Amino acid sequence: MSEHHVYPVPESFKDAHITPERYEQMYRQSIDEPEIFFGNLAQEFLSWDTSWNTVCRYDFPKGEAEWFSGASLNISVNCIDRHLPERANQTALLWEGDDPSESQHITYAELKDEVSQLANALIARGVTKGDRVCIYMPMIPQAAYAMLACARIGAVHSVVFGGFSPEALKDRILDSDCQTVITADEGLRGGKRVPLKANVDKALAACPNVHTCLVVKRTGSDVDWSEGRDVWYEEFVASQSIDCAPVSVAAEDPLFILYTSGSTGKPKGVLHTSAGYLLQAAATFKYVFDYRDGEVFWCTADVGWVTGHSYIVYGPLANGATSLMFEGVPTYPDASRCWEVIDKHKVSIFYTAPTAIRALHVQGDEPVKRTSRASLRLLGTVGEPINPEAWEWYYKVVGDSRCPIVDTWWQTETGAHMITPLPGAHALKPGSASFPFFGVELALLNEDGSEIEGEGAGYLVVKRSWPSQIRSVYGDHQRLIDTYFSTYKGYYFTGDGAMRDADGYYWITGRVDDVLNVSGHRMGTAEVESALVLHEGIAEAAVVGFPHDIKGQGIYAYVTPMAGVEKSDALFKELIDLCVAEIGPIAKPDIIQWAPALPKTRSGKIMRRILRKIAENELDSLGDTSTLADPSVVENLIQERPQT
Ligand code: WTA
Repeated sequence: MSEHHVYPVPESFKDAHITPERYEQMYRQSIDEPEIFFGNLAQEFLSWDTSWNTVCRYDFPKGEAEWFSGASLNISVNCIDRHLPERANQTALLWEGDDPSESQHITYAELKDEVSQLANALIARGVTKGDRVCIYMPMIPQAAYAMLACARIGAVHSVVFGGFSPEALKDRILDSDCQTVITADEGLRGGKRVPLKANVDKALAACPNVHTCLVVKRTGSDVDWSEGRDVWYEEFVASQSIDCAPVSVAAEDPLFILYTSGSTGKPKGVLHTSAGYLLQAAATFKYVFDYRDGEVFWCTADVGWVTGHSYIVYGPLANGATSLMFEGVPTYPDASRCWEVIDKHKVSIFYTAPTAIRALHVQGDEPVKRTSRASLRLLGTVGEPINPEAWEWYYKVVGDSRCPIVDTWWQTETGAHMITPLPGAHALKPGSASFPFFGVELALLNEDGSEIEGEGAGYLVVKRSWPSQIRSVYGDHQRLIDTYFSTYKGYYFTGDGAMRDADGYYWITGRVDDVLNVSGHRMGTAEVESALVLHEGIAEAAVVGFPHDIKGQGIYAYVTPMAGVEKSDALFKELIDLCVAEIGPIAKPDIIQWAPALPKTRSGKIMRRILRKIAENELDSLGDTSTLADPSVVENLIQERPQT
């Protein structure tokens, strides 16, 4: 850990929203008097239809949490209508197309009309409060309209990342019984077309309950059409009224479902509710990014991930901010794209993933230095641990040593930032997510569940509820309890390991379970394994992660073919294709090793620890192999290990 590099709060952040004294005072109050602290925060950040009876009530062992119960509000009003008196003509969404010549400014007034028309279109198709709507979209403004239109009528959105395969889309539509899908003919990314509507058609072949598919015309290419079910977005939405009365929902009514991977089984539908979620998204947006009125904020995530939900749509819009939404990829047309966009739109705050920083870093400094980036004030990262080298490059080259970097740790389940520096309050240590946000009480646990005091490393857990906490796993509350609240009684278990240094800074060390983080995308090893064993020539598969220079982690698959099946290049390709078909291109294994057998204990359990060590090429530290049923299996795997 580069303990010796500490970057103090720069002069330009001395008047930040949160100073060191304010952080201490607010954090203290958020822990000692949470009812007062969060009651005030809720008044300051949100507009309510009716007030609450209780600020918070929770019971971790039962997986229950309620924030602001008794209160009601509408999320789209909080993100749009209430800003109209001051901001009708301010840009709400600044859209930058894949093609650098395309961009669009959508004002708050326009956003209200677009969202209301779409909400009316949904109503006209029979969508009502509580219904689930699947959004499978490219990064175009209609994706945000769709989320907000659902919120306006109290429908529950389930955004599915446009890179997921038809099979993965089908599973998600069925799991939450979405009866409406919003998509586009095709997406455009890095000059390439993504066949979204064709993917939806394949998925819907197995989803008889879907009655409506709204299709945005993005590229204008030909698509198949199912009369009655499919509806062109533009025509249908344009014919609707621009007035749509917002539906007042209860604080704990669901806002969205977002699928994410765990260590076992199929992806889980993480359920978030309305008020608490929006409150934490809004408060973290303002304080962590030290957002100032009128600034342009750019989060490069896709709306298909939680980062896009909280920091492209809900957090920025709840604050009346200008949020930049980018359709393309950081390396198209070339590695200067992000920096050119920053100059073009005078972006003040730039928030991206370490994998993108590493991919741009290897292209050298020139693509950065040919741009000015004078508008930049603050940088941020999210999604995976950032290695100090990438951090230093981001800081010195991209930020010209002027802009603090907020390294934000959080999860789909936490809904919003949990551990992060506040740029006006904390000196930065490259690679450290630093300190808990207001109301977040952390602990590090030993294997036996005892708390570690002071310096040390252990399992990262949260000791009390926070407003944007996961409320349930859609359709399977027991799974919520089993996954997050059973490992250590009385705590929320994050699945991450962390270290706390002598100054109290937290350093996230990565997942301690069988979840991979590939280019910032979460994936269960079990999901990839299930895809591989679908092949009839495959007897068994075990998947682990290994360190990858750009992706952070790569996918390493050990595959045992059936007796008599040839380990051919053709089989190799079929396995890759299966992963793409079952999950999506992000699930392509980087390495497949043919394994005559897998190392197992005498009771038949695969010893992943050993497979991980072989994949990481750490052959000297395989540890105890004496419990293996057949130790020669390991020798064979080591000898046959492909060169990486
Ligand atoms: C990892 C993304 C280190 C972590 C918002 C977590 C991080 C998982 C950081 C959640 C960070 C996220 N430093 N690791 N700043 N941020 N992670 O649900 O392992 O896609 O558990 O949410 O990403 O991934 P998810």
